[in-house]
Amino acid sequence: MKIGIGNDHAAYDMKLEIKKYLEEKGHEVIDFGCHSTERANYPEFGEKVGRAVAAKEVDCGVLICGTGIGISMAANKVKGVRAAVVSEPVSARLTKEHNDANIIAFGARIVGVELAKAIVDAYLGATFQGGRHAERVQMLMDIENK
Ligand code: RB5
Repeated sequence: MKIGIGNDHAAYDMKLEIKKYLEEKGHEVIDFGCHSTERANYPEFGEKVGRAVAAKEVDCGVLICGTGIGISMAANKVKGVRAAVVSEPVSARLTKEHNDANIIAFGARIVGVELAKAIVDAYLGATFQGGRHAERVQMLMDIENK
């Protein structure tokens, strides 16, 4: 898969680990920054990945900040984005299966690297279930046009 990844300074080290992990699994990872531990603003990187996902330049996105919250909020401002912030693999799987989340987010100050790897594995290994969930996802997307 082609995966867009984004982070702020708080998550730079974890981003490197997750990027390497994904690449080792054969994914193409497009890194939207930030590119150091120097203070950076999460809305910038959440928006960049959100726009790439919405434009289908990448198949999905991974966002990491201190909590995963701010950066996912930024991405969710972009039309077409369904970013879910999670702290464990069950929610990561379910948000793909039920919400068709196109971005998974987590916090570098909340989860450790091994848990983060389990989260991306669960998310990438899941498939949207459609059916009644498709109707609800459509309702979500309809909110954008109201
Ligand atoms: C940065 O200090 C921190 O606010 C940010 O990484 C994130 O946790 C925001 O939601």
